[in-house]
Amino acid sequence: MREKTVLPHRTASPMPNSQSKINMSDTYTIKVRDRASGKEYTLEVPEDRYILHSGEKQGVELPFSCRNGACTTCAVRVLSGEIYQPEAIGLSPELQRQGYALLCVSYARSDLYVETQDEDEVYELQFGRYFARGKVKAGLPLDED
Ligand code: FES
Repeated sequence: MREKTVLPHRTASPMPNSQSKINMSDTYTIKVRDRASGKEYTLEVPEDRYILHSGEKQGVELPFSCRNGACTTCAVRVLSGEIYQPEAIGLSPELQRQGYALLCVSYARSDLYVETQDEDEVYELQFGRYFARGKVKAGLPLDED
């Protein structure tokens, strides 16, 4: 006669109680210094929301263009705090190490103090070595004569 296999008794998962509340996302305070206007804004940004988008919902309009981490229009320099930007394809790892970030695809990981950049500052740092060299010859290469 075969022996009957006894499986261990399964228990249901414990129900949430006061010790295991649903963890709401942390919210951080972001101070943005707009160098162009000299104004400073304070935002409250949940850790799982893009900083640029959260600012817009709070009535703060900051520079942007592509909203996809590619053009550098929304670039800032992080003066203090920790930022997370895994989708910032328009910013080299070197510029990220220097403290630059793209607010359209950045998440706060602490309270932050950031500063906007002058127009094209980060673009020049990122792409200037490729596009800003040499003289432009008028008419070329479209002239056919
Ligand atoms: S708006 Fe283009 S990189 Fe952020």
